[in-house]
Amino acid sequence: MSEKQISITPLGPSIGAELSGLDLRGRLSAQTVAWIRAALLTHGVIFFRDQDLDPGQLMTFAACFGEAVEYPFVKGLAAFPLVVPVLKRAGETVNFGGIWHSDTAYLTEPPMATILHAKELPPTGGDTLFADMYAAYEALSDGMKALLAPLKALNSGAIPAAAETRTDRIGESGKDAGALKTEAFHPVVRTHPETGRKALYVNPGHSVRFEDMTEAESAPLLQFLFAHQIRAEFTCRFIWSPGALAFWDNRCTQHYPVNDYHGHKRLLHRITLKGDVPH
Ligand code: SIN
Repeated sequence: MSEKQISITPLGPSIGAELSGLDLRGRLSAQTVAWIRAALLTHGVIFFRDQDLDPGQLMTFAACFGEAVEYPFVKGLAAFPLVVPVLKRAGETVNFGGIWHSDTAYLTEPPMATILHAKELPPTGGDTLFADMYAAYEALSDGMKALLAPLKALNSGAIPAAAETRTDRIGESGKDAGALKTEAFHPVVRTHPETGRKALYVNPGHSVRFEDMTEAESAPLLQFLFAHQIRAEFTCRFIWSPGALAFWDNRCTQHYPVNDYHGHKRLLHRITLKGDVPH
């Protein structure tokens, strides 16, 4: 594999880029890993096509970028417990994670990134949308930025609109979150630990209210932010193909899987990578 074959095609000016010329099954050189990581930091979410990875190979790829961590609510594959199937069966109507969110923001240390690999796809539909939380923050007025700067928000794993998207999977292969805390206060604007850029860090799947305020008091501003942060200008849309792989920076993006393929199965394998406490 030569570096000359590798290329990046941005999906738009704000977020998302497709990387080509790499076979992720092979051993990646330190230089290639650094190049992929730089692309992730620049574009927020990166995509690869035609990667024929079994779960072990997916784990090996993920290990180049961080430590895989457990998902609290649903069991992973028997042989690879840190590889979680993101599944909607043909007879189901609800899709897993079918609300704008950043992954497991209710944990004290939410994942720094998520890797999702397509195994079985509907004939059409089932795309995933991504939104750039740097761009969403930067587009706010100075007055709003100053208002948000000191605020923290409570993030919970129990918001019904998000919890309902897990019900089918929990029914089949749920696990006891046990002692794991699924509520956390995080800054509404976080500073990315690697890029130093500021990103909006509330999301409709998990953010309940501002610290020291009631839900009713928080709702108007949260609703404004939820609508603002997914403006079309801040988004890209990924149309999956067999073997495609998405790798997103969970600290500065959100995503939304489109639920428009009833009657068809969709299965992807997901790994989340250990993050840190948002600041
Ligand atoms: C997820 O939220 O991790 C699932 C995204 C998808 O199914 O596209």
